[in-house]
Amino acid sequence: MLLELIDIHKSYKIHGRKTEILSGISFSAEKGEMIAIMGESGAGKSTLLNIAGGILRADSGKLIYDSDEINIASKKELDLYRREHIGFIVQDFALISDRDVEENIAIPLRIRKINRSQRSIIISQALMEVGLKGEEKTYPCMMSGGEQQRVAIARALATDPDIILADEPTGSLDSENADNVLNLLRMVCEKGKTVIIVTHDKEVASRCNRIVKIERRRRD
Ligand SMILES: Nc1ncnc2c1ncn2[C@@H]1O[C@H](COP(=O)(O)OP(=O)(O)OP(=O)(O)O)[C@@H](O)[C@H]1O
Ligand SMILES: [Mg+2]
Repeated sequence: MLLELIDIHKSYKIHGRKTEILSGISFSAEKGEMIAIMGESGAGKSTLLNIAGGILRADSGKLIYDSDEINIASKKELDLYRREHIGFIVQDFALISDRDVEENIAIPLRIRKINRSQRSIIISQALMEVGLKGEEKTYPCMMSGGEQQRVAIARALATDPDIILADEPTGSLDSENADNVLNLLRMVCEKGKTVIIVTHDKEVASRCNRIVKIERRRRD
């Protein structure tokens, strides 16, 4: 198993009261799998995805990557895990609007201290993969939602992560663009990467290998 989350608990303080959102959820993903996470709004899908990606720390439970347990109490270990293995895609693309496509994709590469000439090679390769060859100097605001999401996917792919985590990646797109994005994620998956998609869309979920449902807990 590539990724395992075991007996994950997570609470938030909501209106001054500790409320458990995830109570003992376990979840695992194999290399090359495309998984949909579904469930009502507020069920904790984004929370689970962020825990899986090392962005958010669970209160308790285990995070195991390729048979090695990540010490979730250690920010350093979580950061390293995220940096080496994870790529994120979100609903609103999270691109910087006053930077061109190249600069947007360069962000995670700069963090990893990849030099300019290497960056340029990686960026043009990533843009090619998402069907946006030669768009380095375009600004996100000049692009359609679908194109912007493809830039965001190129950015996620640029660091060559093993796992792509996507939080409602088609949530802001019309059906044609959603279809393009999904085809792209499918292609990424076929290259051996693991893709985990949070979605409300049954059509999107039906194109994944497996659907994981998260129930919303009753809160009194
Ligand atoms: N930082 C936070 N502080 C307090 N409560 C939070 C925080 N983040 C999330 N929550 C609460 O935890 C619950 C689960 O949130 P989460 O965002 O994981 O749900 P979700 O399943 O992704 O929902 P949606 O489908 O609407 O995106 C919600 O009730 C939310 O209000
Ligand atoms: Mg969410």
